[in-house]
Amino acid sequence: MPRTLICKRSEVPENGLKECDAEGGLKVLIASAGGEYFACQAMCPHQDVPLCEGLYDGAVLTCHQHLWQWDIRTGAAIGLAEAPLECYKIEIEDDAIYINAGGDALDVGELFSGVSGKTLESIKALAQRQEMQAGGTLYGVGDPADDFFILVSGRIEFVIGRDDRTSPAGFMLRKGEVFGWAALLDSQPQRIAKATCIEPSVLLRINGKQALKVLESDPAAGYVVMRRLSSLIARYLAPSGAK
Ligand code: FES
Repeated sequence: MPRTLICKRSEVPENGLKECDAEGGLKVLIASAGGEYFACQAMCPHQDVPLCEGLYDGAVLTCHQHLWQWDIRTGAAIGLAEAPLECYKIEIEDDAIYINAGGDALDVGELFSGVSGKTLESIKALAQRQEMQAGGTLYGVGDPADDFFILVSGRIEFVIGRDDRTSPAGFMLRKGEVFGWAALLDSQPQRIAKATCIEPSVLLRINGKQALKVLESDPAAGYVVMRRLSSLIARYLAPSGAK
């Protein structure tokens, strides 16, 4: 995303918060902190809770739901919080606050970080940008898993089970998060959850088999990505069995 006007300084309370809408459905929280301004993701990385409803003392932001806390200047997790906040660079001109949420979703995401430039460029060349409306379904249970997805903006909800025997399996909203990773598994991958966009969302869609071919040509990168993939699966599948 190029530099975008997000709001005016005069609209942000002193040592307070303001939730703003940016391009592509991205929601951004602007925080004033002792005369400086910072920008981060607007929704709690734990569950679907707006952080603008949390507690904020001008330095530390606390989600009111389960009391995860973050340093507003860096997004670093404090205390109980198990994940940091995604932060965005801001620029100020007169009263205007601009954000630069640039940085390709593939660069900021966990799965491919640190992969060599040439291999990453080959993966990027496979990525197709997909824009979805709220309510759009990306895949359902049992669908063949040909592609995996990197979230650029928006929010994706996962549900496991079929018909009236379903249960929620979490959601994703952080730029760079990977889902649909069954496409990176070898044996007849099938979807085990339904993935629905619950707000307008932008994704990168990458064919799993083609990505595996790229990784096979760079075994060092392939090893890194597969190690990361196994920890992602362990982290997300253990409690829910989804995504
Ligand atoms: S929803 Fe924010 S800490 Fe749990």
